[in-house]
Amino acid sequence: MNHIPRGTLSFALSFALSLPLAGSALAGEPVTLTIDAAKPGAVINKDIYGQFAEHLGTGIYGGLWVGPKSKIPNTKGWRNDVVGALKAMHVPLVRWPGGCFADEYHWKDGIGAREKRPVKVNANWGGVEESNAVGTHEFFDLVELLGADAYVNGNLGTGSAQEMSEWIEYMTSDSKSTLANLRRKNGREQPYKVAYFAIGNEAWGCGGNMSPDHYADLYRNVETFLRAPAQYRPKMIASGGNDNDLTWSDVLSKRLKQQTDGISFHYYTIPTGKWEVKGAATGFAEQEWISTLSNTLRMEEHMRKNSAVLDKHDPEKKLGLFVDEWGTWYDVEKGTNAGFLFQQNTLRDAVVAALNFNIFHAHADRVRMTNIAQMVNVLQSMIITDKDKMLLTPTYHAFEMYVPFQGATSLPLTLANNQQYTLDGASIPGISASAARAADGKLYLALVNTNPRAAAEVAVSVPGVAIKALRGRVLTANTMDAHNTFAAPQAIKPAAFSATGVDGKVSVQIPAKAVVVVAVE
Ligand code: AHR
Repeated sequence: MNHIPRGTLSFALSFALSLPLAGSALAGEPVTLTIDAAKPGAVINKDIYGQFAEHLGTGIYGGLWVGPKSKIPNTKGWRNDVVGALKAMHVPLVRWPGGCFADEYHWKDGIGAREKRPVKVNANWGGVEESNAVGTHEFFDLVELLGADAYVNGNLGTGSAQEMSEWIEYMTSDSKSTLANLRRKNGREQPYKVAYFAIGNEAWGCGGNMSPDHYADLYRNVETFLRAPAQYRPKMIASGGNDNDLTWSDVLSKRLKQQTDGISFHYYTIPTGKWEVKGAATGFAEQEWISTLSNTLRMEEHMRKNSAVLDKHDPEKKLGLFVDEWGTWYDVEKGTNAGFLFQQNTLRDAVVAALNFNIFHAHADRVRMTNIAQMVNVLQSMIITDKDKMLLTPTYHAFEMYVPFQGATSLPLTLANNQQYTLDGASIPGISASAARAADGKLYLALVNTNPRAAAEVAVSVPGVAIKALRGRVLTANTMDAHNTFAAPQAIKPAAFSATGVDGKVSVQIPAKAVVVVAVE
C-alpha cells in the first residue's frame, strides 16, 4: 500500500444512521442444495482463520496492549477482555508486526528493558511515535495467551539477510550461541515456535517498489541464510502479488519453488472499487451493499487464477497460496486519524467474511493460510475498543460461528436454482454455501443469503443420510449496516437457528442478508 493519507492523532467513533430495508419476502422457487458426503475434499487448514495485528493506529497499542502497569486488567500487558474474546473465537494464528510496518521494523529495537528501547516514528501509519514496547517477547506472550501460532514478517525493505537471519536465530535457536543466550537473558529459556516467516511484504509497493524478478533474487539470497533447528523451522513465505496481477505468483512459483513453502497474495474489498473514494462503512445505499459483495466475490476468481498459475510450476501442490491480507477497506471514520484506518463494522462485513470463508474452503487444497486485516480497531476488525471499553463486531461473530470449519474436511456441494440477486445491472448469486465434516465427525453447513430484501428457501439433502434437523445459529438484522456501539454493544449478535427434517430432507428459510452455520443432524 503506497497511498495512505497521513493524519493527526485523534480517535473518535462516528456512527451513521442505519438503513431499514424490507426483508421478509421469499425470493422465488426453493434453491436445491445437495452435499456429497461420500467425496471428501481437502482439509480446511485452521490457519485459514488467521488474524493480522500490525503496529498501526490502535490495533496494538491501546486495543490489545496496555502495558503491565495499566489500570485496565491485563496479563503481561495484554488486555484480559480482548484476549479473552479472541480466545473464545479460537484465533489459530497471528501475523505480526506488519504489513508495511514490517519493512521498517528492526527487531533489536524491541528486546530488553522496555524503558530503554528506542522510540521511533511510525512513518507508514500516522507518523506517530513507536515506543517499541511491544517486541518479540511481548508478541509471543500474546500468541501463547491466545493459544495461537505465530506468523512473523521479516524486514526485507530496510533490513538485511543478516538482520533476518539473526532474528530467526534469536527466536528459534536451542544452542548456547550469544543470540540464543540473549533471548534467555531477556526471559525466554525455550526457543519460540515460529509457524511462518515472511521475507518482506508487498515488495511491489511499500515493501520496496521492486519487480518480481528483483524480489526473487533477493529472496533466494536471504532465504539461504535463514537457519533454524528442524523442529523450530518456520514455513517460509515469499511475498507475492495483489488484485489482478498474476505476474508475482508466476515468477515466484517458478523461481522460488525449492526455497519457499508458499506465496502470499493480498486482496481488499472496496465498495466503489476506487482507492481515492472507497465508500462509507455505515449509512451506505443498497448499491454499495451489492457492489461490496460483488467485489468481494472476485476473491474466487483470484484464488482460481493464482492457483492455476501455481499448478503450472508446482503440480504437486507443495506451495501454499497464502492470502495474508484480506477484508473490507472503507473511508476512515470522520474525526479519526486518517493514518489509523479505523472503520465501523456492520452486518455487511460479516457477510463479506462468510463469503470469503466459503471461497477459501473451496480452494483449501491450495489456500492453506489467510489473515484478515486486521484483528482489533483497524480495517475489518473483530473487536473495537475505546479506552477500557470493548465491543465485538459482526465480523467477530462470523469468525466465531465458523469455528467448526477449522481443520474440518471440505465436502463438495451443488446448488441448483440458485437465483441471482440483482440491482441496477449488478448481479450476484443469492446463496453461497460451504459444507465440511469436522474432526468431531459432525457435518456442518454454512449458508449466506446475499439478498438484503428477500429470504430464500433452501432444500438441503445429503444422499445416503436421513437428515433429522439442522441446528446452529444465524446472524442477521433489520438493516444492512446494523452494527454494535458502546451504547448498544449487543445490537447485532448470533441467534439460535434450527429446522426439522421431513423424510430425511430439510427445507430451510434463510433470512434476507444473513449468515447461517448449522450442524446437520
Ligand atoms: O493492512 C494495512 C496495509 O495494507 C498493510 O500494512 C499493507 O501490507 C497493505 O497495503
